Amino acid sequence: MKLDLITNKAEKQGEVNPNDEFYTPNYAIAPLLKYLPKGSRIWCPFDTQESNYVKMLAENGHPVVWSHLCTNQDFFTMEVPECDYIISNPPYSLKAEVFERLFEIGKPFAMLVGVVGIFESQRRFTMFKNNDFEIMYFDKRISYFKSYADQKPSLNPPFSSVYICKDLLPKQIVFEALAKK
Ligand SMILES: C[S@@+](CC[C@H](N)C(=O)[O-])C[C@H]1O[C@@H](n2cnc3c(N)ncnc32)[C@H](O)[C@@H]1O
Repeated sequence: MKLDLITNKAEKQGEVNPNDEFYTPNYAIAPLLKYLPKGSRIWCPFDTQESNYVKMLAENGHPVVWSHLCTNQDFFTMEVPECDYIISNPPYSLKAEVFERLFEIGKPFAMLVGVVGIFESQRRFTMFKNNDFEIMYFDKRISYFKSYADQKPSLNPPFSSVYICKDLLPKQIVFEALAKK
């Protein structure tokens, strides 16, 4: 898996792209917690029960619904579950499509993405120009797991990751320190 191939697309939506298979550590999820109202219901649409989003949000008192291609639940075509927030690390190869669908759904969200090129391409520029959103920017780069079985995240992309959010943060940009061990 090479994160520098993030611009490679899946052949089509609904297909697994091996370049999209990397997993988020807890320290990258923790900064969201203080912004989530107590007991708010979360949909994690790119996640299985092994996901740290699913585990950590549930451990912090949030009812969580998860879904993933591996259970034949395609984010782009499935019915939106009852939820207050949509939170995950999405497939980077489909980031334009993911944000278009999120803005169309209209619910508050937080999505962790690589910052490089996020506003590039006329398609994404126009989408972000026409929709309100917030950014959470970190003091360090996030390392990712290659497998949920790994003890330590070992994938170190050569760029920063940020959360692109809607109706979650109090200002358009917030800066957070990561408690990276
Ligand atoms: C970058 S990984 C992150 C996984 C998990 N959210 C995490 O952070 O640990 C994105 C995941 O989305 C899955 N995926 C890709 N396209 C999808 C779709 N259309 N619907 C649901 N899941 C999808 C991929 O198979 C991959 O496991």
